[in-house]
Amino acid sequence: MVNPACSPKAMCLLSLVSLGLTASIPRQQNNNVLITIPASVPSTASSPISPNFPGFAFEQASWVKYAQNGLGTTNNFTRNLIASVTSRTGGYPIIRLGGTSPDYGKYIPSQVEPALPVAEQNNFQDVGHTTIGPSFWPLAKNFPNAKYMIQVPLADTNVSEAVAWTKAAVSAIGLNQIHSIQIGNEPDLYRNDFTGEGGIYLGPPRYQGTLDNATYVSIWTKYATAIRKAVALPDRFFTAFDVAAHVEDPSMASWLFDVKTCFGLGIDAGNNVKEVSHHYYQNVAGKAADLQAGLMTLSVTHRNLDYLKPRINWLKANRPNIPFIINELGNSLFRTNSYEYQARLGSALWAVDFYLYSMTIGVAAINYQQIMHSGFDLWLAWNSAGVPAQVFANYYSQPFIADFIGNKGKARVAKLNAAGGPANLAAYAAYEDGVPKRLAIANLEFWNSTAGGRARTFTPITLTVPTTVKSVKLTRLNSPYGAGATADSIAYAGSHWQFDNRGIEIQGWRADTEILTVNNGAVSFLVPFSSAALLYFS
Ligand SMILES: *[C@@H]1O[C@H](CO)[C@@H](O)[C@H](O)[C@H]1NC(C)=O
Ligand SMILES: *[C@@H]1O[C@H](CO)[C@@H](O)[C@H](O)[C@H]1NC(C)=O
Ligand SMILES: *[C@@H]1O[C@H](CO)[C@@H](O)[C@H](O)[C@H]1NC(C)=O
Ligand SMILES: *[C@@H]1O[C@H](CO)[C@@H](O)[C@H](O)[C@H]1NC(C)=O
Repeated sequence: MVNPACSPKAMCLLSLVSLGLTASIPRQQNNNVLITIPASVPSTASSPISPNFPGFAFEQASWVKYAQNGLGTTNNFTRNLIASVTSRTGGYPIIRLGGTSPDYGKYIPSQVEPALPVAEQNNFQDVGHTTIGPSFWPLAKNFPNAKYMIQVPLADTNVSEAVAWTKAAVSAIGLNQIHSIQIGNEPDLYRNDFTGEGGIYLGPPRYQGTLDNATYVSIWTKYATAIRKAVALPDRFFTAFDVAAHVEDPSMASWLFDVKTCFGLGIDAGNNVKEVSHHYYQNVAGKAADLQAGLMTLSVTHRNLDYLKPRINWLKANRPNIPFIINELGNSLFRTNSYEYQARLGSALWAVDFYLYSMTIGVAAINYQQIMHSGFDLWLAWNSAGVPAQVFANYYSQPFIADFIGNKGKARVAKLNAAGGPANLAAYAAYEDGVPKRLAIANLEFWNSTAGGRARTFTPITLTVPTTVKSVKLTRLNSPYGAGATADSIAYAGSHWQFDNRGIEIQGWRADTEILTVNNGAVSFLVPFSSAALLYFS
């Protein structure tokens, strides 16, 4: 898609057209939606959201290119894009290095390359043949303010392999830059007949076979004990579970390795569990025509997240100091990529709503996954196999979420009623010190530039605010092209990110921020279909 505007002035005109503010463009509206901001924190609100809530994750071999440039020094593009998120919350980046490839990988002390085979945009992660060498871990030092979640192999029945990885990682990175050691990746998918790339057999006796609750707890605790015997680690330093998304039946992830059962079987007997984690992918990637049904249908996204509630609530009631996190997230699985489904404004809006809804049900953090070949990435760090380094649409969800969380570490989040709203519109409020500070509106109703040539539809919103609110600032995540837009026409709060600037935020790229006047205790505004808005109260 061609960038429609080359000058800030042109962008400005375009944004007015896109918002239906010019007289000549016909404007469609759906019903007026009424949202009332409760003056005090609703009883359903979350605990305060951590400034480290939006974290990052990289498949092991892919991390090499995300972490460094062609000169072997820090990849500025990656660094700047991460900083645009963490500078908004005041947190530090939590970076998870893991995936199926390292779980079946080998640590080779004599290997010169950090990771083999080298990850590219057009090769799939090489499950069964991935090897890393000692030069892999020092890449972590390229991001001195990050803390790492280091996955070590559990799939390999040779426990010394997990010990060797942990030793190498801890000695190169240092304990103060390690958030946790994560034993195993998606152990609920280990199978007696598992095969990796090229049909390589990855089952017993060399690798674990099919597990149940008891065998999972028994091997997980065995590995944790062996690692702690070999490496001095504090209590509660391990991430546990890391179960897979089951796109064939998303409810499965919530019972296959049952939290209550596994704690009952003693997974935490050695005071080792720092957090319980899950992975999530909504489905298997489709085509552009599937975007609306696959990623922009809130009832599907919210139902899948609701499956996690029993375990989140069990932890809250029984192990209140052990958070529940999603440490690997992507919108959809696919062997290579389908950018027209996985990397569009509609995909970014899915992420916005996913993060917001997750906060309301008690998810404590999310690490967004990136793999060189995957279509759901936030950005591509290098020119690779003919595809230029670039920011993808999904990236725009991250600064939005970061601003919603704010930089006080105090935001408590509640989903609000949006009376008369369309099915795919949701509103979320953030409270600090007992008062409402921000409101996010995710309007995932579908509109695309081609949608049968129909003019864009807008949802009119009347927002009733507490008497303490004197002023309301409205910012937008939007593109004039709607759900099918690529990153080059997307702006968030007027800002744009692109590779040319090495991912440094370009402020004022589009003028679509508004200050709204409070009239009789309410403000009125429009939210275009397939866009999101973030409002600030003062
Ligand atoms: C990366 O950024 C640093 C600091 O701005 C700069 O010194 C360095 O030259 C940059 N490296 C590359 C390869 O652009
Ligand atoms: C187990 O792993 C260790 C550490 O990588 C390695 O030195 C050893 O040779 C492995 N043992 C077997 C039987 O493969
Ligand atoms: C683990 O325990 C739960 C709860 O009893 C059970 O539903 C589930 O089937 C068990 N998982 C496996 C893999 O057997
Ligand atoms: C949106 O419109 C563009 C331009 O016609 C088209 O290429 C794309 O496939 C559409 N995307 C969706 C998700 O409908």
